[in-house]
Amino acid sequence: MSVLESKIVREMVETMSNMYRLGWNERNGGNISCLLNETELDMMLPKKMIKRQIALDFDVAKLMGKYFLVTGSGHYFKNAAKNPEEVLGIVRVGGGGLDLLWGLEDGANPTSELPTHFMSHMARLEQDANHRIIMHSHATHLLAMSFTHSLKEEDFTKTLWKMCTECIIVFPEGIGILPWLMPGSNEIGMETAKKMETCRLVLWPYHGIYGAGCSFDETFGLIETAEKAAQIYSYVRAQGGIKQTISTQELKDLAAVFGVVPRKGVLD
Ligand code: 13P
Ligand code: ZN
Repeated sequence: MSVLESKIVREMVETMSNMYRLGWNERNGGNISCLLNETELDMMLPKKMIKRQIALDFDVAKLMGKYFLVTGSGHYFKNAAKNPEEVLGIVRVGGGGLDLLWGLEDGANPTSELPTHFMSHMARLEQDANHRIIMHSHATHLLAMSFTHSLKEEDFTKTLWKMCTECIIVFPEGIGILPWLMPGSNEIGMETAKKMETCRLVLWPYHGIYGAGCSFDETFGLIETAEKAAQIYSYVRAQGGIKQTISTQELKDLAAVFGVVPRKGVLD
């Protein structure tokens, strides 16, 4: 089976196209990385020939030998379906950095946000052995909300939970929020990864959102649910503000019925 025929690559391309159509990934905005398993790799790339090597300037010892499908820096989600060999790459974490095994045909490097992706993968794998995906987008309404809403995590989380009944069930651990930090830096990578120890959603104010999960559907759905809540919040504010809402007791009841543990400090 060729790389382009594989289920995981088709899912990546489909997800990127959906994200583009939702307006979350303008120009080269956003990036995705997906941890590949050996079976997928053997089916796609039985020979594993190294095309070129890419240096890294942060510690990836815990990911040594792992393979990732990644988006290329500067590449457009809009073009993923048309040009997957340019927009995507398959890399292996090796002693000297990354070995590029497939893709990134025009010489691009993997996303400039690789520190955040790899550090977040390490953090999530500690929490969940089935973890696979880190996804970044410039989701419109979440980004807008970062200008107008309190950036205290408990406040932001509670507002999102109140905007759609499903939210508390989909992300009971709430949302992590960083201060503004330089994109692409090791610092933003380390801070995001710290938040990822307890949250699968991390907001970068005035920039975008990160999501983590075990599959493309789950990770996309997580961001989609939070973004939908932020969109409703925007409409509610535009329609003159909240007149009635889900009560704190109803949120507690929801959590109990659906068997999730809401983040401490939000409902009490
Ligand atoms: P890349 O094109 O390097 O992935 O950067 C896009 C982006 O969203 C930076 O935060
Ligand atoms: Zn970005």
